[in-house]
This record gives sequence, structure tokens and C-alpha cells, in this order.
Amino acid sequence: MARYFKFKSPEEVTAEAAALGHEMRLSADFAPLFLPLAIGTLRAGNRLLVQPMEGCDGTLDGNPDELTLRRYKRFGAGGAKVIWGEATAVCDAGRANSRQLLAAEHTAAGLEQMLRVCRQAHREACGDDGDLVVGLQLTHSGRYSYRKPLLATHDPILDPLTRDRDAGRFVTAGDPLLSDDDLKRIEDQYVAAAKLAARIGYDFVDLKQCHRYLLSELLAARNRPGEYGGSLENRTRLVRNVIGRIRSEVPHIVIATRLNSYDGIPYRGEGEGENFIGRPCPHELPLATAFGTNPHDHLAEDLTEPLAYVRMLRDWGVRLINVSMGNPYSNPHVVRPAEFPPVDGYHAPEHPLLGVARHFRIARQIQAAIPDVPVVGSGYSWLQEFAPHAAAANIAAGHAALAGFGRATLAHPDFAQSLATSGRLNRKQICRTFSYCTALMRAKNHPLGQYPTGCPPFDKEVYGPVWKELEEGRG
Ligand SMILES: Cc1cc2nc3c(=O)[nH]c(=O)nc-3n(C[C@H](O)[C@H](O)[C@H](O)COP(=O)(O)O)c2cc1C
Repeated sequence: MARYFKFKSPEEVTAEAAALGHEMRLSADFAPLFLPLAIGTLRAGNRLLVQPMEGCDGTLDGNPDELTLRRYKRFGAGGAKVIWGEATAVCDAGRANSRQLLAAEHTAAGLEQMLRVCRQAHREACGDDGDLVVGLQLTHSGRYSYRKPLLATHDPILDPLTRDRDAGRFVTAGDPLLSDDDLKRIEDQYVAAAKLAARIGYDFVDLKQCHRYLLSELLAARNRPGEYGGSLENRTRLVRNVIGRIRSEVPHIVIATRLNSYDGIPYRGEGEGENFIGRPCPHELPLATAFGTNPHDHLAEDLTEPLAYVRMLRDWGVRLINVSMGNPYSNPHVVRPAEFPPVDGYHAPEHPLLGVARHFRIARQIQAAIPDVPVVGSGYSWLQEFAPHAAAANIAAGHAALAGFGRATLAHPDFAQSLATSGRLNRKQICRTFSYCTALMRAKNHPLGQYPTGCPPFDKEVYGPVWKELEEGRG
């Protein structure tokens, strides 16, 4: 049963936000969404962006497969002018699941096909792809690598929640960290992956620093000894080195990053049924390993370091920043405010509108710190039919340069075309944040070790049967 989303108009959203103590503007004037934008040397035809959305549907060797290509075709035809290609691992050991894409010589042709079908679909639907920007997110999953957790640091709250499948236990404080030499090799892998993406023809690469995967965990590694831990300078060393090398070796590719600007702390469900509500895990203060988080109050962001860091990133040559937050495994309500809890989650511990407001508030402060670098805001999907209204108001006010749509795009890949042609989303395709996509992403009981994900309710033809198979397997 929907508990929170009961709005009939944008004004009702604004009023609810105000009742919760937040200002949230919405606007029915969508013109700002269709203004072009310069992103470094690139030009995007509008401000609508498809977030990186992993389909978990590659081949076991890391190539895009049929469903992957279908997704990029649909995104390409959808009319958004920035398409942020999904998490693609820089090495096999850093893949988050057995079907995650991999950047390697043997996948280059496949990743090129993914880009080609996307651009071709865009040309067919929109006439011209000269103002379409397509990037690729380069990732190392760190503690969430599916073969074995690869730790940047020990996190007293996350370690006991991080399963080491092979060892048949959870991570303990005695488990070894990736060494400084390991991290140097990972730098090489990032540079090699960026060169590959540049050679294929992607417009930008994203050095993924969010959701507590490896580079995101490094940002929080205040307790790590050695060259990559402790001071902010050390914690950002890997990214600084990689950016320097990409700029000297493939200067034409635009460098972007998706950045956790607030980690928060892990939650766990407590209670029964409808009362299974997320509660913060027990923790000691001050918090040692939560980036962008007030060390004495996990609910409050402390943007001192994120703001300093985005200025550094700009000075090093980053030309696009996508603001995200939280940890999809341990505080999913922060990453993706939802009406219905994900299968591995809990009922919302806060009104999802507070989660959306957190996304908007933090993105706005990041954008204000670096007005010359376009910032992408996240966390729009819970607003359903009013997401475009919030996007338009945020962009008109300069609180972000682009609006990123995540779950909404699996349900309604042509959301931008729909807005452009009819001035509204197609009611029958609006994501209701049922969390089916997350449930599929978390489902491993499949011959390939991973279910493909998509939108069972609104992309029924393909994902209806996939969902049924999962349910039957569960039964
Ligand atoms: C199925 C699924 C796949 C995702 N894949 C990625 C990914 O590859 N990289 C990433 O940075 N975020 C990923 N995310 C997070 C989304 O990009 C987005 O930040 C999140 O869903 C919140 O935005 P929304 O409210 O518009 O959905 C994924 C989320 C879901 C549900």
C-alpha cells in the first residue's frame, strides 16, 4: 500500500515538503529542460539525462548481451541528450556481479556496438545525434566485488554486513586490505579502461566514486594507513593520479565523476511485516569512515570535504559531476527514495520526500561551489509524474545543470520524447518505485549467477516472464 505518494498536483508536493520543513520548488514550465548545455568540449541538446542503470545482463565474460543492447537502443531513442553508460568494471576481480560489463580488449567490439546502437536509435528517433553525449561509468566494486570483497579500509559498521561468499562468513577486522601496490595496479586498470573507452568513441568516462564501491570507500578511508589513507590529499590520490594520466594520454576524452557527497551510515530493518522499518545500525561516535557526514550526527551532511574535493576535481580537469549519496546495500533509502522497500531493504525510516530533498539540497550546494562545471542531480524517480516539474525548477534556478533519471528510465525510456512532444510523461509508464528492478538485481539464483534487471510492471513483455521465473524459483 502506498503510504506517502498521494499528490495530485505539483503544489501538493511543495506543500508536503514545506510541512516537512523543506523548500522544494516545482515548475510547469519545462522550457529549461530543453536548453542546450556545454559539457567541456561537448554539447548536449537538452538537460535530461539517463543515469547509469546496470542491467546485470551482460555475458559472463563481460560483454553486452541482447538485453543490454536493447536497453541502450531504447535509451538512445528516448530523447534524453546525455546517456550515462552503466557501471563497467575496470578488471574482472572488481565486477559486482557475474553479468556486469567489463572494459577489456575482448569486450571492446561489444561496448562499441552498445554505443553504435544507442546513437543510431537516437538518429532514427530524433534526427541528429550531434548533440547527444554518451559516456561510460568505470567502476571497481571494492568491498562489493562478487568474487571476494576487496577492501580499501575497515569500516566498523559495514564490515560485519559485508559477506565474503567464498569464505562463508562476513568480513572481519583482521581481513587484509588492498595494498598500496594493489591500488597502483588499479590506477593502471582505470587508465587502460579510459583509453579503451576513448578509442571506442565514448564522449566521456566517469571515474565512479559513489555508493561505497572502491573509490567511494577510499574517500572515507581516514583510518587507512599509507599513501592512500588518512588525509584528504591521500584519500584522493588514486583519482588524482588517474585523471593526470588520462589527461596526458587521451586528452580528448571528457572526464566525469559520479560522487558520493554524503555516505550516511548503514541501516537494518527491525519489526514485523508492515512495521519492518529501517533503523540506524548501532555505531560509535565520532564516525570515522563516513564521507560527507557529520561525525557526531549521521543524519546530517557535512559538506566541508565534498565541497573542497569538487573544487579540486574541477582544477584537475573534471568537466561533469553527478551527485549521488548513500549505499545501495546498507542504506538504500538514501540512494533511491522509494515508496515500496527493496527485497533486501526495509520500510522507509523517513518520508521519501526527505530523501529527495536531501538529494536536491546537496546537489545544489555542490553546483554553487563549482558554477562553471555542470552538476547532475539524482533521486528524482520517487516524484513520479512530478519529477519533470522538480527538474525544471532546479535547472531554472541553477541548482543543477542536468536532471538525472534512474529507475524512471527503465519504466519509461522515452520520457524525454514524451515531455518534448506532449508536455507530460506517459501515465502508463511512470515508475511507481515498486523496487522490482532492485529485487531482480539482487537475485542470484540464476544459471548465470545473476538475474537480468528491468521493469516487470511497465516493460512487461520482456521482464514479466523474468519476474515470473524468479518467483517460481523462489517458490
Ligand atoms: C537497477 C538499478 C541499476 C543501477 N545501476 C547503477 C549503476 O550502474 N551505476 C550507478 O552509479 N548507479 C546505479 N543505480 C542507481 C541509479 O543510477 C540512481 O542513482 C538511483 O536509482 C536513484 O535515482 P532515481 O530516483 O531516479 O531512481 C542503479 C539503480 C538501480 C535501481
